[in-house]
Amino acid sequence: MKALVYHGPGQKTFEDQPKPEIRDAGDAIVRITRTTICGTDLHILKGDVPTCAPGRILGHEGVGVVETIGAGVTTFKAGDRVLISCITACGRCAYCRRGMYSHCTTGGWILGNAIDGTQAEYVRIPHADTSLYPIPEGADEEALVMLSDILPTGFECGVLNGKVEPGSSVAIVGAGPIGLATLLTAQFYSPAEIILIDLDDNRLDVAGRFGATHVINSADGKAADAVMVLTGGRGVDAAIEAVGIPATFRLCQDIVAPGGVIANIGVHGSKVDLHLERLWSQNISITTQLVDTVTTPMLLKTVQSKTIDPKRLITHRFALADILDAYSTFERAAATQALKVIIEA
Ligand SMILES: NC(=O)c1ccc[n+]([C@@H]2O[C@H](COP(=O)([O-])OP(=O)(O)OC[C@H]3O[C@@H](n4cnc5c(N)ncnc54)[C@H](O)[C@@H]3O)[C@@H](O)[C@H]2O)c1
Ligand SMILES: [Zn+2]
Ligand SMILES: [Zn+2]
Repeated sequence: MKALVYHGPGQKTFEDQPKPEIRDAGDAIVRITRTTICGTDLHILKGDVPTCAPGRILGHEGVGVVETIGAGVTTFKAGDRVLISCITACGRCAYCRRGMYSHCTTGGWILGNAIDGTQAEYVRIPHADTSLYPIPEGADEEALVMLSDILPTGFECGVLNGKVEPGSSVAIVGAGPIGLATLLTAQFYSPAEIILIDLDDNRLDVAGRFGATHVINSADGKAADAVMVLTGGRGVDAAIEAVGIPATFRLCQDIVAPGGVIANIGVHGSKVDLHLERLWSQNISITTQLVDTVTTPMLLKTVQSKTIDPKRLITHRFALADILDAYSTFERAAATQALKVIIEA
């Protein structure tokens, strides 16, 4: 089969690979019909993710059709259309029983990281019963690709951790796919203000169309002042970090209101400063999380009911054979205005 393979920092090829086979009773082999590329795949290609070894097929998002199942799989059968979660969960270990699938002792974020991923014609999914979701009849499969990772990530790590509530003020730093997924799902709770901050005017325009009440281009280094003006000098109840660099974590510390939450989503590759000399008295909380994807079934219902329309995040479509073009389009997002690219196998 054809697959996109990571060969060490800066190196990837689209090449022939052996088709995956059932290894454990709980496995399913899924024929991929649609996948996509995540900002985290770019982190891997930069060498930021040491758990991902050269030779690995990338990708942790997608939908497909079950081809074969292991002897222990009871929920799915060959021919079933399925949504693949970026997080693999056994459902039984102590972490899974707490709903913390991200830390499953035999799963977690392994797809396209510790085991071969979804940017291929076929993928092996361990713990298939508890890591795949059935696709409802008539569902729009392109929209569902957004449920593998970005919608649960924005919702769980940003909106739920940020305690977004009716009337609250929210700032989302970073208007990439994750920041925009956070923006879409924050509106479940009717916050009074949702301020999007980024360096890219195109992404800020998209944020405005997706329901941001204010957008700020932080290129001038004055975003914190602008947030203070917008909030009457108070700051925001939820400062959600969706970039993953020291400058944006710093900005969140500068704009969080007393009693507020800094909800970190970004994958950080270097240390950041924590200004406890200012924050110790401010009654704030800081949260971090690797997405658990426990909210995927709920989010699926909101997509089915059209409460949210994640298809609006899709800007480009490619055939699997053109996945290298898809990467180059996604990597040059400022020039290509790419958000999510759909790759059809
Ligand atoms: N916690 C999790 O489980 C989890 C899951 C998925 C992704 N992530 C992480 O979330 C982050 C966002 O993902 P994405 O796919 O949206 O990434 P992305 O790179 O597409 O978006 C990041 C955005 O940040 C903006 N940006 C960069 N520097 C900035 C600055 N100094 N000030 C303001 N904006 C700035 C960019 O213009 C871009 O729009 C990444 O770090 C990704 O790895 C975390
Ligand atoms: Zn991802
Ligand atoms: Zn587990």
